[in-house]
Amino acid sequence: DTRQQALFIIFGGTGDLAKRKLYPSLFELYEKGFLKENFAVIGTARRPWTDEYFQEVVRKSVTVEGTSKEDADEFAQHFYYQSHNVNDTEHYVTLQKLAQRLDEKYSIGGNRLFYLAMSPRFFGTIAEHLKSQKIVTDNGYNRLIIEKPFGHDLPSARELNDSIGRYFAEDSVFRIDHYLGKEMIQNIAAVRFGNNLFRALWNNRYIDNIQITLSEALGVEERAGYYETAGALRDMVQNHILQIVSLLTMNMPASFTESDIRREKIYALKALQVYTPEQVEENFVRAQYAGTSGLKGYRQEEQIADDSKTETFVAGKLFVESENFSGVPIYIRTGKRLAKKTTRIDIVFKDVPKNIFGPEKLGKNILTIIVEPEGEIYLQMNVKKIGQNFGLQVQKLDLLQSENDDSPVPEAYEKLILDALRGDATNFTHWEEVAYSWKFVDAIRTAWDKKEGPLVEYTSGSMGPHEADDLLAHDGHKWVFSA
Ligand code: BG6
Repeated sequence: DTRQQALFIIFGGTGDLAKRKLYPSLFELYEKGFLKENFAVIGTARRPWTDEYFQEVVRKSVTVEGTSKEDADEFAQHFYYQSHNVNDTEHYVTLQKLAQRLDEKYSIGGNRLFYLAMSPRFFGTIAEHLKSQKIVTDNGYNRLIIEKPFGHDLPSARELNDSIGRYFAEDSVFRIDHYLGKEMIQNIAAVRFGNNLFRALWNNRYIDNIQITLSEALGVEERAGYYETAGALRDMVQNHILQIVSLLTMNMPASFTESDIRREKIYALKALQVYTPEQVEENFVRAQYAGTSGLKGYRQEEQIADDSKTETFVAGKLFVESENFSGVPIYIRTGKRLAKKTTRIDIVFKDVPKNIFGPEKLGKNILTIIVEPEGEIYLQMNVKKIGQNFGLQVQKLDLLQSENDDSPVPEAYEKLILDALRGDATNFTHWEEVAYSWKFVDAIRTAWDKKEGPLVEYTSGSMGPHEADDLLAHDGHKWVFSA
């Protein structure tokens, strides 16, 4: 039976993430039959909402064109609201009673998912109270799903982890990195380990360099307050980009299971070369977006300091010093207000050792995995130009185009929530992955924090400052993707 029985308790139930991602994802799972009678959701937050109002919010957040009103109504009836101050023990007593009542009403059997969609500074106290006030059950599973940021450096992440770890074992902690729920990110393993062709070439003997681009067209929008304390390095590199790096460079796991996959990912992240301040200077670039006629520059945005040194763009070169990847430069870049929203990976293969067709240079073999806006995979190859003479031309072999596939792509959150319901943590970040990622990122942050003076600026709508191009040009390379 694929049907799940669970009580969700969502801390931060009135928040943006809950409305934009969690409720719609739960609704999809409901529509697909994974959740049916035996589930309930308690939303908690400080605001004094009623169940009726909460249900109205839920109905609105799941309703799009074509949504059945009846289904949305039925679904929303499983939602309950409790106004909650996370520091007030009394409130957990009430929460415990409500949870117990719903568990019985919906015959849930003690399975609980605690979703912490709020500031991490409350994670420890929530975990403690869940335990002390017996909101964790002993007749079902108890899983904690947590959202980033997981600390702002290694020491704070460790502290946070310890504060949770006192009450929840590692195997019941599900750290969300929503990139791991994206269809094309999950495709990396399929392409790498399902095809002998790529398996054979996936190493420093054949790969020249790897390029990872996570570019966004939007600015900081409403999240300026948070972003100002994070910056692109912590916001996108520490988690999403390093996760992609680990998936691209990990060794083949012994089996396609949670523990074996995570073991190899941890190993890949452990092998990241941690830079000295001089190496940071050489290998990493940071910048901020400048204003244009229509758009504000980063330092002119609301809630941002006039002299802010928070980077909205990062580009860098890094190395995974493992047997198969040692020596392969991995170029990464991410930023706000860039030319377009795209997430892509370009694997650039080495030139053929001898070009018998010369003197013209051959095109490169490049495997491109486009994650967004549409899932696509291309392989760039050299083929003969049609005609009397013998000449070569570069063509793209189109390996997969989600447009041509009718199956709807599930939203990342929907996949991840179902995984958590099933107890499969493969696509969640293990603590050791978090720790090695911070170790790498902290070395960069520390070097940057010591530097005086304003940051380099880049034009909104560009692909970042020229320094990001120089980084590759210096090695005789260039970005495969340019806007
Ligand atoms: C989040 C970052 O983790 O990822 C945001 O905090 C960013 O700043 C977002 O906009 C990008 O996610 P996606 O799925 O739109 O590529």
